[in-house]
Amino acid sequence: MGTETILVTGATGNVGHHIATQLRDAGVGVRALSRDPSSPRLPAGVSAVAGDLSRPDSLRDAAAGAEVAFLLWPFLSAEGANAAVAALAGQVRRIVYLSAISVHDGAPAEENGVWGELERAVEGSGASWTFLRAGGFATNTLAWAGQIRSAGIVRWAYGAAARSLIHERDIADVAVRALTEGQHEGMKYVLTGPQAITQADQARIIGEAIGVPTRWEEAPADEIRELLAGITGDRAFADHALDYWASLIARPEPVTRTGPEITGRPARTFREWAQDHAADFRSPPG
Ligand SMILES: NC(=O)c1ccc[n+]([C@@H]2O[C@H](COP(=O)([O-])OP(=O)(O)OC[C@H]3O[C@@H](n4cnc5c(N)ncnc54)[C@H](OP(=O)(O)O)[C@@H]3O)[C@@H](O)[C@H]2O)c1
Repeated sequence: MGTETILVTGATGNVGHHIATQLRDAGVGVRALSRDPSSPRLPAGVSAVAGDLSRPDSLRDAAAGAEVAFLLWPFLSAEGANAAVAALAGQVRRIVYLSAISVHDGAPAEENGVWGELERAVEGSGASWTFLRAGGFATNTLAWAGQIRSAGIVRWAYGAAARSLIHERDIADVAVRALTEGQHEGMKYVLTGPQAITQADQARIIGEAIGVPTRWEEAPADEIRELLAGITGDRAFADHALDYWASLIARPEPVTRTGPEITGRPARTFREWAQDHAADFRSPPG
């Protein structure tokens, strides 16, 4: 790999942590961005840099001298995105943006949501880019961890909805390629897990990984809608999520082979993910 310096936003998060770790292990210069550069969640041995995606000046400083950036956008609104992307693009020549499978070229802007708006901001920034249009993350099921630990159940809506959840390491593997190799410029990669699995089966597989039977309990959609609206503070987001999950009963999420074609290794299964994260779902001893 080259001698460039790569700025990694979200470096304390699920995907960015693995990206920063892999780049470090490959001897690539990494700048791991966090609002708290002393965070214990940053990988050891990488150079930490303070930055806030809602403060463009801080991004300009963080990216100064870097050539490439990995970008995620952790907000439910795209407000401030143009300024943030411009601040990055004033420093780096390539941006790899973690987008979502729900973005479709040619679809109305409102259907492509925040991710579509971010793609537009990056496309218009003057930097070259790669978009990683990821499907649902397997880490989303960590929202069930409390229920599994306390009662061995998952009470949630639409157990028959089938999702091709992706392991965060598989996204990171593709991101590292896109960050360090030139041939991914201008590409929009749709990345998913290797198989669509119903939510009820996801709960069962997590139970098998932790050695504690885990039962699906179907909740009325409106109960989960209220819960999500409360957690996110965004009713439209909750409505959209519930409608989307309902649609996955008749029409499971697609499965792509894009990730394996780029990395040369098979996509990790949901069972592997559950095994990797068993400790997150297990009750502490005692
Ligand atoms: N979940 C899905 O199914 C899904 C599907 C497609 C795309 N995505 C995209 O993936 C992203 C999440 O990735 P992830 O799971 O790897 O992240 P994560 O584990 O949820 O962590 C969030 C990251 O965002 C950073 N962050 C939050 N607010 C920030 C701010 N104001 N300034 C700078 N950094 C900030 C946090 O860093 P600090 O707290 O250290 O500052 C942290 O590293 C989402 O934002 C979404 O756009 C998700």
